Amino acid sequence: MKNIAIFASGNGSNAEEIIRYFEKRSDGHVRLVLTNNQEAKVLERAKRLGVETVTFSRNQFYSTIEILEILNQQKIDLIVLAGFLWLIPGYLLQNFPKRIINIHPALLPKYGGKGMYGAKVHESVIKSGDAESGITIHYVNEFYDDGQIIFQARCPVEPSETVDSLANKIHELEHKYFPVLVDQVLATL
Ligand code: GAR
Repeated sequence: MKNIAIFASGNGSNAEEIIRYFEKRSDGHVRLVLTNNQEAKVLERAKRLGVETVTFSRNQFYSTIEILEILNQQKIDLIVLAGFLWLIPGYLLQNFPKRIINIHPALLPKYGGKGMYGAKVHESVIKSGDAESGITIHYVNEFYDDGQIIFQARCPVEPSETVDSLANKIHELEHKYFPVLVDQVLATL
């Protein structure tokens, strides 16, 4: 049984899908949900689903190794970023090589980088006139949205598309594929 930690900054719908998926499996389990945002809805979701939560400050994350100690205490094998908006510090990358994955709501390498998250990504895709968008699941490195790509799935962008309608399509793809991909990455560890 491998142990998963999810980092999320906001709503946490992907976190919830992953937690529920692994409730029915014996190869992995979500042990922890960590967030930089004490108002994040993901905290409610995790508590409702019986998953332990940790909230941390910028100082704790970047100037101490408290989070690493917690991950080690819980024997975490894989870190999953599900709508987590801060850059991952070097000490975590070094301690979890090829063991941190992220989901991005567009077809990287397009529409990635600092500040590109959620609605901002969908707005840029629609403005550009691209005929398709999608999701990217990738390993995490020291840059935003830059590590090796593991998986992409696509959806059409209609001429009448709005930020909300595209966000819904993207969330559907994320919920369908992200838990399965987490499982596939777990199997490689
Ligand atoms: C997801 O669409 C995810 O791809 C995106 O944040 C959303 C979180 O939704 N992540 C990024 O934009 C990272 N650059 P959720 O909180 O409902 O899972």
